[in-house]
Amino acid sequence: MNRRLRFLTAGESHGLALVGILEGLPAGLPLQASDIDRDLVRRQQGYGRGGRMRIEQDRVEILSGVRFGATLGSPLGLVVRNRDWANWTERMRVEPGGPDPRPVRVPRPGHTDLAGALKYGQTGDLRDVLERASARETAMRVALGAAARALLRDLGIQVGSYVRSIGQADAEDAAEVFPELFREDAEGLALLADATETRSLTEAASVRLVTAIQKAQGRRDTLGGVIEVVATGVPPGLGSHVQADRKLDGRLGAALLSIQAIKAVEVGEGIRGGRAYGSETHDPIFLAAGRLQRTRNHAGGLEGGVTNGEPLVLRAVMKPISTVPDALPSVHLGTLQAVPAHVERSDTCAVPAAGVVCEAMLALALADAVLEALGGDTMDGLRHGFARLRLSSRTAVGHVFLVGPMGAGKTTVGERLAKALGLAFVDLDAHLETGAGATVAQLFVTEGEERFRQREALALAELEQSNAAVVAMGGGAPCTEEAWRRMRRAGVVVALSAEPSELVRRVAAAPGGVATRPLLQGGEPEAKLAELLRLRQRWYSRADATLRTDGLSPDTAAGAVLGLLRALDGPLVRPSGAV
Ligand SMILES: Cc1cc2nc3c(=O)[nH]c(=O)nc-3n(C[C@H](O)[C@H](O)[C@H](O)COP(=O)(O)O)c2cc1C
Repeated sequence: MNRRLRFLTAGESHGLALVGILEGLPAGLPLQASDIDRDLVRRQQGYGRGGRMRIEQDRVEILSGVRFGATLGSPLGLVVRNRDWANWTERMRVEPGGPDPRPVRVPRPGHTDLAGALKYGQTGDLRDVLERASARETAMRVALGAAARALLRDLGIQVGSYVRSIGQADAEDAAEVFPELFREDAEGLALLADATETRSLTEAASVRLVTAIQKAQGRRDTLGGVIEVVATGVPPGLGSHVQADRKLDGRLGAALLSIQAIKAVEVGEGIRGGRAYGSETHDPIFLAAGRLQRTRNHAGGLEGGVTNGEPLVLRAVMKPISTVPDALPSVHLGTLQAVPAHVERSDTCAVPAAGVVCEAMLALALADAVLEALGGDTMDGLRHGFARLRLSSRTAVGHVFLVGPMGAGKTTVGERLAKALGLAFVDLDAHLETGAGATVAQLFVTEGEERFRQREALALAELEQSNAAVVAMGGGAPCTEEAWRRMRRAGVVVALSAEPSELVRRVAAAPGGVATRPLLQGGEPEAKLAELLRLRQRWYSRADATLRTDGLSPDTAAGAVLGLLRALDGPLVRPSGAV
């Protein structure tokens, strides 16, 4: 399925463990087991699950591919142990033995039991089939998908999902109740969904969905539903129209349809489109804020199998769970007598969990498309190409945000750069000081760092709405996901860097010296700064372009940044136009 980011899983539902290999992640991606466990826990939530969820409490072990918290470029090897294994050591033993004293001989309509047994000649004990067909395997997909998600998140793509309906019960549409999250922050949307037990977006909807599941339980039955899967921050140009097997709509469809019990996938408003006029269906194009945009997104972000810069919106339809407690008619494969189907511990409804699996499969397919379009043995190499794609629908770059540690030259270089570009210059710290009537050092003492960060976030939100400018960001200001979303939406981000000794030398030489820098107090300044850099580097390294300023005069550095910006110009930027 995937080409550049290949993966395989192995493992039986009640075997020792699930294992997974993900091959093709670039080197230098920050990744920890906790990033993966977060999604494993999310997969285990949701009203309507069977008893197994209480036994499992999945945790990943990273076996390979990561060192000191970052990927190496070598295959990522993962293990998720089955906590239930202790109860199955005899019945699932690897060594010669058997047969199982309790073989499964009556296939469940809707499950893999019969088709798989006929294919592999395993009619003597359907457990040989169902152990692998079981959606327990999706725990490993979710683990591998979490690594793909980390890659996408670093580039500014967020993946999320929520439940639209279960059985006949409908939940709210994100486009209506949370339009901004729906367009800008798919992960924020998913976290909101996680807060209800059905992963729908509001408590009121969740009550309706729970009632539907309880009704199914009451009649000893099961239910499916519809999940909306969304990706935001997607640049134009992923996938390709030039060959059938490169069309991203087909590949995303295949990724979602490969999930157990997902039986239909809709791209955007695909189904409604079949009943509407073209004028009602297609998404008009307009130019605003230096960027080609759409008035609506019926296409779900895909035209010709290529992403068009709008969010990806897909809908996955899950059939009802096939282990129906009031079992359907079946046939005993030994006696060939008509009997009710086999029933074992099972979910009534797994739509909320399936949403998390959909996110994982979307993340894997999307990260694959990013790597296919841009290559990338290292994250640094990938980021540059990605920035070009992201900026390709712009007619002007927009704001230029300078990020990096104190002393890197954000203000000195920024002023000169602004002049060269004919743009206003904003120093975020100075802007805040004017607004608050106090220095940054005073604000840290009187209000504390947290309040100061809120002020920074607010100032950034205001700046985003104003005319394009060169903005020198405070050292800690770009250290949140929200700041990155805003900066990327408003323009381009350039990181300035220098050796810690040079940074301290410059800070000491500036008016007020080291005393004006609250975060350098209480220790040796160079060591304090090196520690700060260690914590913040993963944020700075997300920049669209990076310039080391040691040994450069402010004018030369400004010229160099100008060159970096020109290298990011897309096909719509006019040669004579200002940035
Ligand atoms: C998260 C998740 C949980 C599932 N839990 C169950 C379950 O408890 N019992 C069951 O019979 N099917 C369950 N299924 C569905 C089966 O795994 C699936 O129907 C089966 O493998 C046959 O594949 P197919 O439906 O794609 O044809 C679940 C699916 C997902 C995605």
